[in-house]
Amino acid sequence: MTNKLWDKGFEPDRAIEAYTVGRDRELDLRLARYDVEGSLAHIAMLEKIGLLTRDELTTLTAGLQAIAGEIAAGRFEIEPDTEDIHSQVELLLTRRLGDVGKKIHSGRSRNDQVLVDLKLFLRDELRQTADDVQTLFDRLQELSERHKEVLMPGYTHLQIAMPSSFGLWFGAYAETLVDDMRLLAAAWHIANQNPLGSAAGYGSSFPLDRRMTTQLLGFEELHYNVVAAQMSRGKSERAAATALAAVAATVGRLAMDVCLMMSQNFGFVSLPDELTTGSSIMPHKKNPDVFEIMRGRCNRLQSVPNEIALLTANLPAGYHRDLQLLKEILFPAFDELRGTLGMCDFMLAHLRVNDRILDDPKYDYLFTVEDVNRLVLQGVPFREAYRRVGLAVQHREYRPTREVHHTHEGSIGNLCTEEIRRKMERVRAEFA
Ligand code: ARG
Repeated sequence: MTNKLWDKGFEPDRAIEAYTVGRDRELDLRLARYDVEGSLAHIAMLEKIGLLTRDELTTLTAGLQAIAGEIAAGRFEIEPDTEDIHSQVELLLTRRLGDVGKKIHSGRSRNDQVLVDLKLFLRDELRQTADDVQTLFDRLQELSERHKEVLMPGYTHLQIAMPSSFGLWFGAYAETLVDDMRLLAAAWHIANQNPLGSAAGYGSSFPLDRRMTTQLLGFEELHYNVVAAQMSRGKSERAAATALAAVAATVGRLAMDVCLMMSQNFGFVSLPDELTTGSSIMPHKKNPDVFEIMRGRCNRLQSVPNEIALLTANLPAGYHRDLQLLKEILFPAFDELRGTLGMCDFMLAHLRVNDRILDDPKYDYLFTVEDVNRLVLQGVPFREAYRRVGLAVQHREYRPTREVHHTHEGSIGNLCTEEIRRKMERVRAEFA
C-alpha cells in the first residue's frame, strides 16, 4: 500500500514510482520545517475564511507543532512509501488526528506548497550565506589594515608592473564581496514573495486571504499573479544560484592568487606546515591543496546557474515535474559555498605574509612610474620624464628611489577601509 495523496484505488508501478520520486525523500527533509510553517499559516487562514472551525484549527495547530518539534529534534523521516514532505506531514496529521487531518489541503496544491517551502528555505539560506560572506569580509578588511605597509609587486599581463601592497590585495577582495552581497540581497528580495494561494498555478475558487498568509509568514510582498507565482519556481533558484556563483568567482580567484603567491617562484605568502599537504613521492612537498580544492569547488559552483538555466529552458508557463530536480542542483551548492567560505576565512587567519618581497632587485622596475611621476612633479613634462626613465632602463642604468607616495582614494596609501565597510553595511541593511 502506498501513501499517495492522489490515491485513486490503483497501485502505481514500483519502477515508475522510484524514478519519479528520485531523491525527494532525502532532499525534502531540508524543507520539512518550512513545510510545517507554511501549513500553520495556511490553516490559520482557512479558519478565518470559514473553511475550518476554531476547534479544528486548535487541533491541527497542535498536531503541526508536535511535528515541528519532531523535526527540530531530528526524529522525523519521510517513510519509504511516502512521496515527499507534503504527503508525509498530511499523512502524520491524518494518522494522529483522524479526518480533520484531511482538511488542511483545501485551497492549495503541492505546487504552491513546495513553492512556499522553497521561498522560506531560500530566504534562510541566503541570509546565512550573507553572514558567512560578512565574516570573510571582516577578516579581509582586518588583514588589509594589518598589512597595509607591506608592499608586493602589482602585475599586468602577469609581468611586473607597479607597486601594490597586501593592504590593497586583501582590501580588493573585501570590496569585491560587497558587489556579491548586492546580488545575494537581490536574490533574497526575489525569494521574499508569497506564492501561497497560487495552488496548482491558477488560484482557487475559495476566497483565500493571501495577505494574511503573507503577513503570517513574514514575506515582504505577495507574488500576486498566480501564474507568475508558479513561474517563480526555477527563477528564484536561478537568482540565488547567480548570487552564489558571484561569491564563488571572488573566492575562487582569491584561491588562485594564493596558489600562485605560495609557489617558490613567487614566495609572497606561506602557510604553517599543518595547513599544507604532502606528496607520496617527493619528500620536500608542502602543497596548498586547500586552496586548489577551493578553486575547483568555486569553478564548479559557477556552473550552477547554467545547470538551472538548462533544466528550465523552454518550459512553458505552469507546473512541470522537471522543477523537482532543481533541489538536487541548488541544495548542495549552498553547502559547498558555505563550507568554502568558512575554510577560506580559517586559512586566511593563518596565512603568513612575506614583508621583504621587494628587496629582490628583480622587482626594481616596479618603481619606474614612481620615478617618472617624481620628475613630473619637479616640472619635467610627462612624455619627457617617461623617455628619460625609459632610456635609463634601456641602458641598464635605472636605479629605483623605492619611495611610494600614493594618496588618492583606494590607493596604497589611502585604502578607504572605513568607506568600504560602510558601503557593505548599507547593502546588509537590505536584509532587514
Ligand atoms: N516533489 C514535487 C516537486 O518538487 C512536489 C510537487 C508535486 N506536484 C505535482 N503536481 N506532482 O515539484
